[in-house]
Amino acid sequence: DWDLNDFIAESIDEVRRQVGDRKVLCGLSGGVDSSVAAALVHKAVGDQLVCVYVDNGLMRKGESEQVLKTFKDNMHMNLVFADAGARFLSKLAGVTDPERKRKIIGAEFIRVFEEEARKLGEIDFLVQGTIYPDIVESGTKTAHTIKSHHNVGGLPEDMQFELVEPLKLLFKDEVREIGEKLGLAEEIVWRQPFPGPGLGVRVLEEVTAEKVHILQEADYIVREEIKKAGLDREVWQYFAVLPPMRSVGVMGDGRTYAYPIIIRAVSSDDAMTAEWAQLPYEVLDIMARRIVNEVQGVNRVAYDITSKPPGTIEWE
Ligand code: XMP
Repeated sequence: DWDLNDFIAESIDEVRRQVGDRKVLCGLSGGVDSSVAAALVHKAVGDQLVCVYVDNGLMRKGESEQVLKTFKDNMHMNLVFADAGARFLSKLAGVTDPERKRKIIGAEFIRVFEEEARKLGEIDFLVQGTIYPDIVESGTKTAHTIKSHHNVGGLPEDMQFELVEPLKLLFKDEVREIGEKLGLAEEIVWRQPFPGPGLGVRVLEEVTAEKVHILQEADYIVREEIKKAGLDREVWQYFAVLPPMRSVGVMGDGRTYAYPIIIRAVSSDDAMTAEWAQLPYEVLDIMARRIVNEVQGVNRVAYDITSKPPGTIEWE
């Protein structure tokens, strides 16, 4: 039970002591933890911090723009934006297996990040958005296996960094509170959990640019309607999934043959177990109507009413 203003002041001092006048690198994902860590380190050492954001082309609609606006325009951070969508898509062409897709996306991320890091020259420190639960409960899917002073998960042997982990004693709600105090956008501070492989595991089976686009548009409507209904801080995760099949429908005078969209929304405390969210029918109704009317290539909407277990939150 501590005062978070004191915490902010103390960790700014600590980061300054640790880093001195040397350069610090941060991989921004747009997620809550890395964003708050970056904002805190930026307060401490300003332009000594360089952030690298890898746009893998699998982000949700508007997400990369939001990151650019927040960190570059509003906070005036030194931000390298790696526009790598085409690279990820070409690596994913023809791949249908979920775990292979994850591996490809993870490996390509490391490759792009490393290329950008090398261009920056000598860098001694790497910011990690590790939070307290990452340290105590191992075995979850987030990247917290990285140890101080070690080669950082997947980066080449000759790239060694000392880690800067300003959030490692904090819980998620404290991280959010600090994010708010540092002036980060609400969309970032209250962002729902989003998997590292992004829409790459929500476009089921093969990922193509066309499918990613369809899913982005449908997912945007799901998020917009959840927000309008005031449920965005209540529901743990809410998103759209695009399955690899089509079905027959009718529109105007004609028959359609197009993709369905599956809406997934769950309540949970920790993602280990989850219950399908009993969203109001009116909210589901407006989502379904809007998706079919506004998203080209979709003619049907289904709602996933499976809890975890036996279902997982994601479909892949
Ligand atoms: P599942 O689908 O296993 O997901 O119920 C549990 C939580 O983990 C997220 N998730 C991932 N996060 N990389 C991540 O960083 C992944 O590959 C990944 N797969 C699932 C999921 O969104 C949920 O919050």
